[in-house]
Amino acid sequence: MIKISPSILSADILELEEEIRSLDINGADYIHIDIMDGHYVPNITFGPNIVKSIRKITSKILDVHLMIQPVKHYIEEFIDAGSDIITFHPEADENVEEIIKIISDAKIKVGIAIHPKVNISDIDYLFNQVQQIIVMTVIPGFGGQKFMYDQVQKIKDLDEIRKNNNYNYEIAVDGGVNNENAKICKDNGADVLAVGSYLLSQNKNNYNKIINSLK
Ligand code: DX5
Ligand code: ZN
Repeated sequence: MIKISPSILSADILELEEEIRSLDINGADYIHIDIMDGHYVPNITFGPNIVKSIRKITSKILDVHLMIQPVKHYIEEFIDAGSDIITFHPEADENVEEIIKIISDAKIKVGIAIHPKVNISDIDYLFNQVQQIIVMTVIPGFGGQKFMYDQVQKIKDLDEIRKNNNYNYEIAVDGGVNNENAKICKDNGADVLAVGSYLLSQNKNNYNKIINSLK
């Protein structure tokens, strides 16, 4: 069954604990934490301290999505904070192989994220070294944007490349995911859906129902 990774980007920071606890008990598989630096993307969110605090209140997989540039300098802090998966954008740092090694040596899953403007052929040399690939279906930076259907082909291509080469990465889709496009993601080979505003704009009493319907 497809996994749901709610993105806390659009959560009210003052209610974050309650938010995480309700996602935890209502069927979230991962918690997606968007780290933005105001440089790689034109928005600023959280740092490693938030990951550390969330780590204390849930045992769910912490799916940390770094939208920062450079990347390498900050990796150790996100490892120490208790991340389970650390995903970064390869074009944001020149030390890509080294970053992958640092994360892998810490026994944490490594992910790479594909910006809508990046082609699969630009980064496919990394596919045998990673455990997650995020297909971005919005321009990274903000929640609540529209799903870019022209990125769906990348999900399909990644699934095919995985089958042909016996790779074992999970394919995640991030950006504008809702009840209208979840199925097309799944049908094309997605394993994980990061879902932000569509889920978090709802009443917490409905989380379970919405997560199940997305699945
Ligand atoms: C976008 C972030 C996404 C975002 C998803 O830059 O990486 O994870 O939080 O939010 P929605 O689902 O609202 O597009
Ligand atoms: Zn994200």
